Amino acid sequence: MSRLLTLAAFVAGFVSSVFSLPEACTGTCTNTHDPSIIVRTDGTYFRFSTGGRIAIHSASNITGPWKYRGAALPNDSSINLRGNQDLWAPDVSFLNGTYYLYYAVSTFGSQTSAIGVARSANLEPGSWTDLGSTGISSDSRKPYNAIDPNLIITNRTRFLTFGSFWNGLYQIPMGSPPVRAADSVSTPRQISYDKSDKAEEGPVVFENEGHFYLFFSRGACCGYDKDRPARGKEYRIVVCRSDSPSGGFVDQSGVACTSGGGTVVLGSHKWVYGPGGQGVYRDAVLGPILYYHYVDTRVGYADGQKRFGWNKLDFSTGWPAVVPVSST
Ligand SMILES: *[C@@H]1O[C@H](CO)[C@@H](O)[C@H](O)[C@H]1NC(C)=O
Ligand SMILES: *[C@@H]1O[C@H](CO)[C@@H](O)[C@H](O)[C@H]1NC(C)=O
Ligand SMILES: *[C@@H]1O[C@H](CO)[C@@H](O)[C@H](O)[C@H]1NC(C)=O
Ligand SMILES: *[C@@H]1O[C@H](CO)[C@@H](O)[C@H](O)[C@H]1NC(C)=O
Repeated sequence: MSRLLTLAAFVAGFVSSVFSLPEACTGTCTNTHDPSIIVRTDGTYFRFSTGGRIAIHSASNITGPWKYRGAALPNDSSINLRGNQDLWAPDVSFLNGTYYLYYAVSTFGSQTSAIGVARSANLEPGSWTDLGSTGISSDSRKPYNAIDPNLIITNRTRFLTFGSFWNGLYQIPMGSPPVRAADSVSTPRQISYDKSDKAEEGPVVFENEGHFYLFFSRGACCGYDKDRPARGKEYRIVVCRSDSPSGGFVDQSGVACTSGGGTVVLGSHKWVYGPGGQGVYRDAVLGPILYYHYVDTRVGYADGQKRFGWNKLDFSTGWPAVVPVSST
């Protein structure tokens, strides 16, 4: 290797291990576990998060000021399972004039789970109708855990990706409208799995310039104040890529996501610890944005202290990298 190449390799390695700090957030930025952001047609930003029967916050900008608006499902979920008063991991999509909110019913460490859906015309508290189960559920006889839903809408199909902590991430085609799995006999397909570390959760499929990016959280999500994982085993955000929304995802080194692949997009750095529960949306002004929760080690490690973070994503190499907004 030439000296120049050695230097280039060194710089590349160095740069990839240094992440941008979260961008500005004002108003309510704490206790925002598993956020889902959607921008309404009038430009209002809505943020949905785990807890408080799916807490709704809104703002005029991704930077805030974020204001609490109410609960999406104040009457709990109609799914008759333990956990139906403590709904997890909302995911909100807009399709054909309707907003769909997917959520998970489960309890911590349990595989008895189900994915539910609610519908609204305008995202506001009080506007949501619970439609109950999507038909996607799990118990100890299934290979997966039916949690952490995410809808990807393509021209031809809608897929719900979900999971898991049990045998990785899974996906199933949805019907039209996308409130039930397309076909009650089809089995969800595994799209990501790491046999040495089954801790994969919170999948999100995002389309950019003809590629589909599978973002997910790898590692231990929660309870860092009581039981801190070994260094490097806490949540971090990883990505794989495919030309299809429904499989064939590989990481930047060409390792299949189904064989433990996954390129780190954002991990712990400086005072940011355990970033995950992420989503991606396309901001009208800033372009693709990665958002997530993390704990600020200067403040505390408890789940109730999870902070809302976001960064701009640069896809110019074909792979997403967090970059400071000020650099653009
Ligand atoms: C959000 O605020 C930033 C910083 O003030 C500004 O540059 C950007 O245009 C705003 N975004 C929108 C969608 O108004
Ligand atoms: C879109 O919504 C309209 C009215 O709500 C409905 O008639 C139509 O079938 C929907 N189209 C699709 C593709 O779901
Ligand atoms: C909640 O339940 C009460 C009592 O059944 C009902 O009056 C109210 O409309 C429900 N609210 C929502 C948002 O569904
Ligand atoms: C989806 O449809 C739009 C509008 O018809 C088109 O521009 C785009 O190329 C299509 N994308 C794919 C992946 O087929």
